[in-house]
Amino acid sequence: MSEHAREYFRFNISHRIEHILLLLTFTVLTVTGIPQKYADAAWASGAIGLMGGIELTRQIHHVAAILLMLTTIYHGGAVTYRIFVKRVRLTMMPGLQDVKDGLQAMGYNMGLVKSPPRMGRYNFGEKVEYWAVIWGTAIMVITGFMLWNPIATTKFLPGQAIPAAKAAHGAEAVLAALSIITWHAYHVHLKWFNKSMFTGSLTHEQMEEEHALELEEIEAGVEEPPISPAVMRRRLMVFYPVAIVISVTLLAAVYWFVTLEETAITTIPRQDTPVFVPVTPTPEGG
Ligand code: HEM
Ligand code: HEM
Repeated sequence: MSEHAREYFRFNISHRIEHILLLLTFTVLTVTGIPQKYADAAWASGAIGLMGGIELTRQIHHVAAILLMLTTIYHGGAVTYRIFVKRVRLTMMPGLQDVKDGLQAMGYNMGLVKSPPRMGRYNFGEKVEYWAVIWGTAIMVITGFMLWNPIATTKFLPGQAIPAAKAAHGAEAVLAALSIITWHAYHVHLKWFNKSMFTGSLTHEQMEEEHALELEEIEAGVEEPPISPAVMRRRLMVFYPVAIVISVTLLAAVYWFVTLEETAITTIPRQDTPVFVPVTPTPEGG
């Protein structure tokens, strides 16, 4: 096989499952959340009608929110396994080099610099996106908690915190949806169709443009040294008990979050089911 026909392994099955779960939960939350924010517009009330009415739309939003929180816990477990057990390099951590790469890419796109930056496993754009999702999810979980449990929230925060949380939750939703539609869709669909999150691998051309440094290492045969079974066993003996305790605590926190009270704010008024009473004519002359 020629060098250029070669595919480069990038994402294992766990990475791909994490991404699919994020993609599905985020999309459902956007589709059920945004029309509630713009409920006065005809398109939004039409969308809510298509989803079975406001009550069902809210219930779907709540179920997808629970699934997003579970996905986040799973991602936390998978990342800590990679860091503490497999001891992989922290390739998603941002650094000064990313700022330099970003400036060089901008200069190159404007024709001011001759060559594009040569980047590692995760380039500056991917790091910005990843950390924006982490930050965005934290905001949505905190403000989502306040909208879901307004009475509990106002026991330790002033009442104005609830409309403020609603404004922050709605604005962050619009920001996140727009950044996925513009930035992420451009990078993974329009620039070229990057199938790596589904197939697991990238082409030579894509590696060369987006991860030239990593490609250089792969081609030079730089590999992580294998972990001996005894060392692996020792690390797992620490990892599993700690991971189980933290996961059970977080699952209990999610359960507490969603069962604390049943007074989630109503973004738009509930629709009462109309009761049709047959009109009985008033007897005349009685
Ligand atoms: C774990 C995360 C989340 C939780 C707990 C959560 C919870 C809630 C709750 C309780 C409401 C109030 C209405 C209702 O009861 O349905 C709401 C509204 C809303 N949610 Fe979420 N949500 C989460 C994530 C998201 C995400 C990721 C998006 C979009 C990207 C989103 C978009 C919206 C929007 C736009 C509204 C309407 C806000 C308004 O009327 O101004 N939510 N959410
Ligand atoms: C149909 C929709 C989507 C497709 C086809 C897609 C595709 C991809 C691909 C191919 C990558 C790997 C890029 C690389 O490193 O080579 C990726 C990464 C990623 N995706 Fe998606 N994605 C989609 C939707 C989403 C959504 C809705 C979110 C989150 C809200 C998301 C969040 C991420 C994040 C955080 C990464 C890692 C950082 C990065 O590589 O940019 N994706 N996606």
